[in-house]
Amino acid sequence: MNIILLGPPGAGKGTQSHRLVAERGMVQLSTGDMLRAARTSGTEMGKQVAAVMDRGELVTDEIVIGLIAEQLDKSSESGFIFDGFPRTLAQADALGELLASKGRRLDAVVEMQVDDDALVARITGRFTCGECGEGYHDTYKPPAVEGTCDRCGAVGAFKRRPDDNEEALRTRLLAYYKDTSPLIGYYYAKNQLKRINGLGEIPEVAARINGAIDG
Ligand code: AP5
Repeated sequence: MNIILLGPPGAGKGTQSHRLVAERGMVQLSTGDMLRAARTSGTEMGKQVAAVMDRGELVTDEIVIGLIAEQLDKSSESGFIFDGFPRTLAQADALGELLASKGRRLDAVVEMQVDDDALVARITGRFTCGECGEGYHDTYKPPAVEGTCDRCGAVGAFKRRPDDNEEALRTRLLAYYKDTSPLIGYYYAKNQLKRINGLGEIPEVAARINGAIDG
């Protein structure tokens, strides 16, 4: 099963992708994570995209389509989760062509609907473990022991994203409404869209996603 998790910044795409990986053995393809990895490893492309990402703007279609194309030969018996990709109509067309060329298909596009006030609260409270990447939130998902990662036990390794500030978030939201939200109509017309309420506790949202992709 290949699915897209579609939603604005802070909708919970990463959180739910990690759960689907753990529970179903699916492979998460997050273009945001790939771009951040390129920045950390200091590649030419990573340097090129750093300022764009920090401002909250979209990286070019060419770069992100290239990143996804490189990943689709991976074996994944349980399928791929596209997290944060596609984000433009050009990316959606490219994904359709890439999947068809590999003999794969898209099974569902899950739109996670979350109101803007909740998005701001989620983004401004977010932090992750720099060692294993586990995601946390100051209020909604604090670690059991302050300063220690529940998953890998790393101490003092928590970090916050440079684009998780109010100004960049406003730009990211604008990019979502301007460039990405047209994909809702695009996938609706293709009869692939499943809409779920992304508000509520993380397990509640998880159950809704399971219902949408299994139903
Ligand atoms: P990317 O990394 O994809 O960021 P994003 O889409 O802005 O999404 P986020 O990672 O911020 O949110 P999320 O939905 O994953 O939420 P999360 O689960 O963390 O992209 C970053 C940048 O890279 C872009 O701005 C762009 O520059 C570039 N880029 C990436 N892909 C691109 C593309 N295809 N084309 C062009 N440019 C691209 O949850 C957020 C917080 O809320 C967490 O703290 C979590 O614990 C908490 N939370 C989650 N669920 C709940 C819940 N149900 N209740 C309460 N809290 C919750």
